[in-house]
Amino acid sequence: MSNTQAPVAIIGGTGLTSLSGLEITGRETVDTPWGAPSAPLVSGRLGSQAVVFLARHGDPHRLPPHQVNYRANLWALKEAGARTVVGVNAVGGIHPGMGPAHIVIPDQLIDYTWGRGHTFFEGELEDVTHIDFTFPYSDRARRELILAAEALGLSHSASGVYGATQGPRLETAAEIVRLERDGCDIVGMTGMPEAALAAELNLDYVCLGLVVNWAAGKSDHIITMAEIQDAIDQGMAGVKAVLERSVGPLGNPRPQSA
Ligand code: HPA
Repeated sequence: MSNTQAPVAIIGGTGLTSLSGLEITGRETVDTPWGAPSAPLVSGRLGSQAVVFLARHGDPHRLPPHQVNYRANLWALKEAGARTVVGVNAVGGIHPGMGPAHIVIPDQLIDYTWGRGHTFFEGELEDVTHIDFTFPYSDRARRELILAAEALGLSHSASGVYGATQGPRLETAAEIVRLERDGCDIVGMTGMPEAALAAELNLDYVCLGLVVNWAAGKSDHIITMAEIQDAIDQGMAGVKAVLERSVGPLGNPRPQSA
């Protein structure tokens, strides 16, 4: 059992290994039945809201997307009292309106990942469990992020389809054409199985995507790390502002569903 107790969790991705503005009150190394999470849980207050922060790739950044222990991460955050989890993701833009430094709060996803620990329901089970995953992201949480992005006047899209690829390599141009044909607007490597594992734990999960490059074949040049870093430098302040503005309402108790 974790000593940390906070209703809102933030999973920081590439470009967000720590959260400036977070008044840190604790740092806890925890273990779970699924192994160790990517990093210690950092607890603190963002404004007046108690939050717990976890660096998805470790701090310093060391775990590639396919080697993140998503099960341990989600399990640890649930144990830390989280009811709502915001996954911050750097993504490539496929849709013409979703270029570098644009923020996307997707409403759907398509999973192209493989070979990752993607469910808590395995091993010696009493029942086979199939969770509903029709709507992978919490509407309530999405609404709060969208309201914050609107109020801040940030360039953002209030919906979109996230294509989760295996990585760590970026995609080929033909793969991006295929993803586009499938209906994907953005592409990233860490959105799954994170969203599904959150659903298995009955957590409200939402993705806050920052576009850091045009997806492969969508610009006249190949993708460089320098370009990605530029977009992170330009866009991460907006992501942090959205988090600061939305965590209060995200921490409110979830309305009882019928
Ligand atoms: N593809 C996959 N994942 C990514 C990308 C991309 O272009 N940019 C940032 N994460």
